[in-house]
Amino acid sequence: MNKQDTPFQSLNTMKISIKKAVQSRISNLDFNNLDFGRIFSDHMFEMKYHDGKWQSAEILPYGPITFEPSMMALHYGQAVFEGMKAYYVDQNTINLFRPKDHHARFNNSAKRLCMPETDELLFIEALEELMKLDHEWVPKKKGQALYIRPVMIATEEYLAAKVSQEYRFFIITSPVGAYYSEGFNPVKLTTSDQYVRAVKGGTGEAKAAGNYGGSFLPALKAQQNGYTQVLWLDANEHKYIEEVGTMNIFFLIGDTLVTPELGGTVLPGITRRSVITLAKEWGINVEERRISIDELFETHHNGSLNEIFGAGTAAVIAPVGLIHHQGQNINLDMEKIGPFAKRMYDAITGIQYGKIEDTHGWTHPVNIKESVYY
Ligand code: COI
Repeated sequence: MNKQDTPFQSLNTMKISIKKAVQSRISNLDFNNLDFGRIFSDHMFEMKYHDGKWQSAEILPYGPITFEPSMMALHYGQAVFEGMKAYYVDQNTINLFRPKDHHARFNNSAKRLCMPETDELLFIEALEELMKLDHEWVPKKKGQALYIRPVMIATEEYLAAKVSQEYRFFIITSPVGAYYSEGFNPVKLTTSDQYVRAVKGGTGEAKAAGNYGGSFLPALKAQQNGYTQVLWLDANEHKYIEEVGTMNIFFLIGDTLVTPELGGTVLPGITRRSVITLAKEWGINVEERRISIDELFETHHNGSLNEIFGAGTAAVIAPVGLIHHQGQNINLDMEKIGPFAKRMYDAITGIQYGKIEDTHGWTHPVNIKESVYY
C-alpha cells in the first residue's frame, strides 16, 4: 500500500513525558503462576492523534482510561494491535525482539484500517523507557517473557461510518508464561466447515482487532469439541491451509519445511519469518506455497509428514499433535514436541534470551540502567 492511500501523512517525533506510579504493584505478582495476559505492569505509554498529528506522548501509571460511548472504535472496529515480547538477559539488559519489524507491521495494519502511522523512533523510545521503568516485571525463567501490546483505536465521537479524525495509541505490557494451557505439549486443531477467517482483499493480513473477534465463535465451537483452535482454510475453495489465527503453521514433510504462502489472507508473522530464515540457514529446503488439506492428509498416509508446529509471538513454537478435518484425523501420536520444532524453539528462544549469538540483528538490547528521562 502506498503512503498516499491514507489521509494521514504527518509523523512527528516528540519528547515523552513521564509520570511515575507512586507505588509499584509488583509485590502482588506471583512469577511462578503467570497466566497469559491477565496482569499488567506498572506503566503504560499513551499518545493522542488530533488536529492532523500525534500529540502528548507520555508514560503514565497503568490504569483505566475514559471515553465516550460514541467513540468510533466501538462502533466500526477501527482498531489495530501488535503482539511482541521482551526477554530478561541479565541484571542490566532486556532484549526486545525485532521491534522494528513489529512496528513496520503495525503501520501496515494502521494503513489498511485507514489509521495514521506512528513514528519508528518514537515507538522504539517508548518501548525502551517502558522497559527501564518496569524492568522488574520482566520474568526471568525460560518460557516466560514480558508480552508487549501496542494498540491503536479510533476515538472520534461520531456515528457517521467514516474515517475517524482522532486516535489513541497505547502500549501496555504483561508478564506471561505459555500461551496455551497445554504448555509445551502438542495442541489439537480442527478445520471449520462453516466459517472462514479472511478473504482476499479483506483485512486478513492486518492485525485488525475485528479479525480476532470474528474468530471467537468458531474457536469456541472447536474448544467445545475438544480442540485447542481452528486451522483456517481459504475462503474461496475451502481447500488450502492458511493459519491458526494466533499463529502461523509449518509442516515438516520429509526433509522439507512447508508453510502456507502469504498473499493477503495470512498474517505475516514475525516468528514465521524468523523460522524460515533459520531453517534456510540450516540447509533445510523451505517452501512457502499453497498446501491443501487433502495434500496434508496424503503426506500423513504415505508416511512423509514428520512434524507440525505453529509459530507466533504469544505461542512461540507450539507443537501440533492432531488435525481434525471432516471426521478424519491426522494424529501424529505425539506426546511431546518433535525434534525439528524443539531445535527451532531452542534456537529462537536462545537468541531472544541472549544465550545464542544474534547474527541477524533481531534483538534490540535495552540497558535498563540508562535513561535520558530520569
Ligand atoms: C501474538 O502472538 O502476539 C498475537 O497477537 C496472538 C494473540 C491474539 C494472543
